[in-house]
Amino acid sequence: MEYRPGLEGIIAAETAISFLDVEGEEIVVRGYNLLDLAEHKTYVDVVGLLIDGLLPDEARRSELERSLVAGSAVPGPIWDILRALPPSMHAMDRLRTAVSALGGFDPEVDDHSPEANRRKGLRALAKVGTIVANLHHIAEGRAPKEPDSGRGYVENMLAMITGKPASPAEVQAFDRSLMVYSEHELPNSTFTARVIASTMSDLYGALTGAVASLKGPLHGGANEAVMHMMLEAGTPEGMEALILKKLAAKERIMGFGHRVYMKKMDPRAQLMKETLKTLVSASGDAEGQKWYTLGEVGEAVMRREKGLYPNLDYYAAPVYYVLGIPIELYTPIFFAARTAGLVAHVVEQHAQNRIFRPRVRYTGPRGLKP
Ligand code: ACO
Repeated sequence: MEYRPGLEGIIAAETAISFLDVEGEEIVVRGYNLLDLAEHKTYVDVVGLLIDGLLPDEARRSELERSLVAGSAVPGPIWDILRALPPSMHAMDRLRTAVSALGGFDPEVDDHSPEANRRKGLRALAKVGTIVANLHHIAEGRAPKEPDSGRGYVENMLAMITGKPASPAEVQAFDRSLMVYSEHELPNSTFTARVIASTMSDLYGALTGAVASLKGPLHGGANEAVMHMMLEAGTPEGMEALILKKLAAKERIMGFGHRVYMKKMDPRAQLMKETLKTLVSASGDAEGQKWYTLGEVGEAVMRREKGLYPNLDYYAAPVYYVLGIPIELYTPIFFAARTAGLVAHVVEQHAQNRIFRPRVRYTGPRGLKP
């Protein structure tokens, strides 16, 4: 039996949800190119596509929006649990605890039929958005902000996070980021969710495991690490110096490299780069322009020094910074967006299940006597 460290290049699941066509430079999501969806549709459309399996028509879209907003109120005990946790705990760890606890409030938790999984998935998605938007407020001792029924799901999440209404350009940038974060074939967190679901454990368990996976800086945690690096660099010149220093110390540069894209630009990073440019040009914000220039400098240095290209997290980070989002929420937002894709994968895993149980190449001793 062949051993491939990190399961590189191994086909571990059959899916009709998404596929990274690296040669064709396309992220296929249920037959559509994710970047086309990002240009022409909204996050709620993509939620419908992922969870229902079809792009919603106008009526279904309105129904989805209504149910996400109506379902976004979070049970009081979840806030109590979050308040009881040390504010110093990483936001993803607090989110993991809250997602786990949410399962206790869902009467269908142990019904693994596709219909029940989809219903639970939409309920989970609605509530995760509100929880994520309030992690920072709770850690700072503030009361959680309530969703406003007059706003859409995405607009609500952004307004709850920042505590102020967002402009249409800001909502569009945030919505696009959620779309490109929504689904991406079989990264570590989705694999984790499918592995958990394959024991016929429940959706909330699979989502909880996925939060833990996504926290790591080699995966979703890279977006907040990128922003800390950019802030430490401070200026475009500082960015070049900092990257060179880190490379000399054999450190990894967050936001670069990708197991599947390898030495190609992640198409989602290009879209976020353009989104950042539009956002900062629309507002005429000189400080915002600085992050764009600094990002480009880092990109050029990494291409020159390592032949590596940015992944999505590299440009999502400054987009979130310009939107005024606290850095500790960047990875939780990634999870909120990805919940749609994860739900689709759990529905699919439960519907065509075979338990994951690979083997090992044993390297320990044998024949020892007790
Ligand atoms: N900085 C410096 N060198 C890097 C980086 C990086 N970010 N990424 C890869 N490399 C180098 C490695 O040192 C290695 O070099 P070597 O062959 O000389 O030893 C080579 O590129 C291959 O790297 P691997 O670690 O084998 O690649 P792998 O596919 O296992 O890892 C990963 C992919 C984890 C994404 C890696 O590129 C990385 O650590 N990137 C930084 C973290 C990051 O941005 N994660 C976000 C991923 S995308 C997402 O979750 C949305």
